[in-house]
Amino acid sequence: MKALTWHGKRDVRVDTVPDPAIEHPTDAIVRITTTAICGSDLHLYEVLGPFMTEGDILGHEPMGIVEEVGSEVTSIAPGDRVVIPFQMSCGNCFMCGQGLQTQCETTQVREKGMGAALFGYTKLYGQVPGGQAEFLRVPQAQYSHIKLPEDGPDERFIYLSDVLPTAWQAVEYAGIPDGGSVTVLGLGPIGDMSARIALHRGHRVIGVDIVPERLERSRGRGVEVLDLNDHGDLGETIREMTDGRGTDAVIDAVGMEAHGSPGMKVAHQLTGLLPSSLAEKMMERAGVDRLNAVYLAIDIVRRGGTISLSGVYGGMADPLPLLTLFDKQIQLRMGQANVKRWAEDIMPLLLDGDPLGVEGFHTHRIPLEEAPGAYEQFQKKQDGMVKVLLDP
Ligand SMILES: NC(=O)c1ccc[n+]([C@@H]2O[C@H](COP(=O)([O-])OP(=O)(O)OC[C@H]3O[C@@H](n4cnc5c(N)ncnc54)[C@H](O)[C@@H]3O)[C@@H](O)[C@H]2O)c1
Ligand SMILES: [Zn+2]
Ligand SMILES: [Zn+2]
Repeated sequence: MKALTWHGKRDVRVDTVPDPAIEHPTDAIVRITTTAICGSDLHLYEVLGPFMTEGDILGHEPMGIVEEVGSEVTSIAPGDRVVIPFQMSCGNCFMCGQGLQTQCETTQVREKGMGAALFGYTKLYGQVPGGQAEFLRVPQAQYSHIKLPEDGPDERFIYLSDVLPTAWQAVEYAGIPDGGSVTVLGLGPIGDMSARIALHRGHRVIGVDIVPERLERSRGRGVEVLDLNDHGDLGETIREMTDGRGTDAVIDAVGMEAHGSPGMKVAHQLTGLLPSSLAEKMMERAGVDRLNAVYLAIDIVRRGGTISLSGVYGGMADPLPLLTLFDKQIQLRMGQANVKRWAEDIMPLLLDGDPLGVEGFHTHRIPLEEAPGAYEQFQKKQDGMVKVLLDP
């Protein structure tokens, strides 16, 4: 089959690889009809290279038709149309029982000290072949699927794999009070969708990015947008917009590769609270994330508010201003999205009209063969690219 494989930093290719086969009685094989590129894939393309192996198949946003099931998979059958969540989970362990499928005790990658295995996402997450391919082997398939109706275009359901539950969880974790406000940092697919969900729930949404088309796209949906480049002191701007307080919550939909010198200035100001020798060492230390978005969030959120991190972070030595977090009484929630936990809540919004605008959400739909070029364009934010769907 054809699959998008990792070969090195900024080097992905479409290779011919062996077709997957059933390996365990709980596996299924799915023929992929639509798959997508995610901002998380860009981390693999750039900074998470050390955790990749040449030839790894990428992709964790797949949907398609069940081809074959193992002997213990009775909840789906060949011919069924399914979306596959980006994490694998068993559905009957303690964690799955709590709706914490990202911590599934059956698929946890214990040898690396990590949570549930993810498709196409490094040795840290089990090195499971991903879904930017013609076929996908789905472990724990008895539970790791979302069954779909036969009709309705793929564009309507594909985002159940990741974007929708991630954005949904980001808003849930943000704990925005009724009629309250939220700042969404980053208006890529995750931030854009989080903003749509928050608006749908009647919240005031301020959105921040640096890419003009992304700002425009969110403005068109009713978000009050701010270009980070125009606001050297973003926290001050947002306090001025909110009676001097800041928004009730902040969603960070940027992650560890944040851009923007204003953020860097805040970072320096905040690490300025540390003894200078320590601050310097920490800022210089290899493996430290670019925490600009987190620092912005800490500054923007009102006292007693909540920060919801959906952007992915990977550092182990990042300086956090605990003084400010503690003094402002900030609540911090984070993590990969528990896909199955939210799928049932989201489904009605996909079946009954399309209030979130998912059908028009993608900006590009291209053959899998063209995916390497799309990775480059998506990373460079060229050609108005926000969300790319791939046809295997
Ligand atoms: N928690 C989860 O389960 C989960 C799932 C999917 C994606 N993610 C993560 O969410 C993040 C966003 O994903 P995406 O697909 O939207 O990616 P993306 O890279 O397209 O979006 C990030 C956006 O942030 C903007 N940005 C960069 N620096 C900024 C700053 N300092 N302030 C404001 N905006 C800034 C960029 O211009 C870009 O538009 C990534 O880190 C991704 O790994 C998490
Ligand atoms: Zn994703
Ligand atoms: Zn489980």
